[in-house]
Amino acid sequence: MYRELLNWFYQNKRTLPWRRGRTPYRVWVSEIMLQQTQVNTVIPYYKKWIKKYPTLKSFKESNLDDVIKMWEGLGYYSRCHNMFNAAKLIKSSFPNNYDDLIKLPGIGDYTAKTILAIAFKKNLVGIDTNLERIGYRILGLKTKTKRNQKRVIKYLEENQCTNNPGDYNEALMDLGSSLCKASITYCNQCPLKNICKAYASSSPILYPTPKVRKKIPMYDIAVSVIEYKNKILITSIFILLLTSCASKDDEEREPPEVQLYNLAQDRINAKNYVGAVDSLSRIERFYPFGVYAEQARADLIYAHYMTGDFDAAYASSEKFIRLYPRNTNIDYAYFMR
Ligand code: ADE
Repeated sequence: MYRELLNWFYQNKRTLPWRRGRTPYRVWVSEIMLQQTQVNTVIPYYKKWIKKYPTLKSFKESNLDDVIKMWEGLGYYSRCHNMFNAAKLIKSSFPNNYDDLIKLPGIGDYTAKTILAIAFKKNLVGIDTNLERIGYRILGLKTKTKRNQKRVIKYLEENQCTNNPGDYNEALMDLGSSLCKASITYCNQCPLKNICKAYASSSPILYPTPKVRKKIPMYDIAVSVIEYKNKILITSIFILLLTSCASKDDEEREPPEVQLYNLAQDRINAKNYVGAVDSLSRIERFYPFGVYAEQARADLIYAHYMTGDFDAAYASSEKFIRLYPRNTNIDYAYFMR
């Protein structure tokens, strides 16, 4: 099947900045940026990054503050910290084998295989949900099970193009993002339609059976962290409050950080504040369980963040909170529950 796939790919592939002037380092940068982030979002960040850090050497000579600045707005900042730490661990050339690559922070099975296939022509297939979906469809599998997943992996690996492993991986990625999407397909144009059981069924999007997802609500929260005599005062104020402030007349309205500061002060004065603590670990105990638990979590993460304990902050923030740049007393975070 790879012949049809690659023919299609060579005629239809996307022009993307990380597909030019490839080096293992650049492949790594792009694959990390593309984790959990859409291609179109990544493009300007990748370009900016490569301009500033064109080589691994130049990246290794950078400092963390500059690197984080380059990442600002891309989200999931742990990726950036991991890259910085990984670069320090790479002593000579970029690792060209699975065992060494997987040891680096931020590189899991998918990313290791994808980098090795694209940058080193290793016969590996990095299978994410998009590639997995293509496999389920070709094989006509509906139910997501471990056994079916193994069949999909086996199929995609056995049918790879051993001469062009990188192209094979990227062709599947492009197919998954253009013709074989999760909720819409363009089977008539698909190079693999003749072997695809889901196409034969005439309801391809039912392969694999879509999960009924519970919608995860996202809340904007604002957090203020005030340091005072070696203690940290912390308050979380839901954005609802902010919005109510914003409804005042324009002339009366103060900048958001001032509004927040005032609100934080009000809370403190009203003895309704979350607390003053002298050690971060005590924050967890400071909150009653139940309604405040999530707020406590957000504050804890944020406190770590503000005091520069990034490892602790990122360890607990992944998937829950998107942190925005520090520097101000008051900042915003997205809080999911
Ligand atoms: N998503 C992850 N890696 C990619 C790549 N190399 N090209 C396009 N999309 C991707």
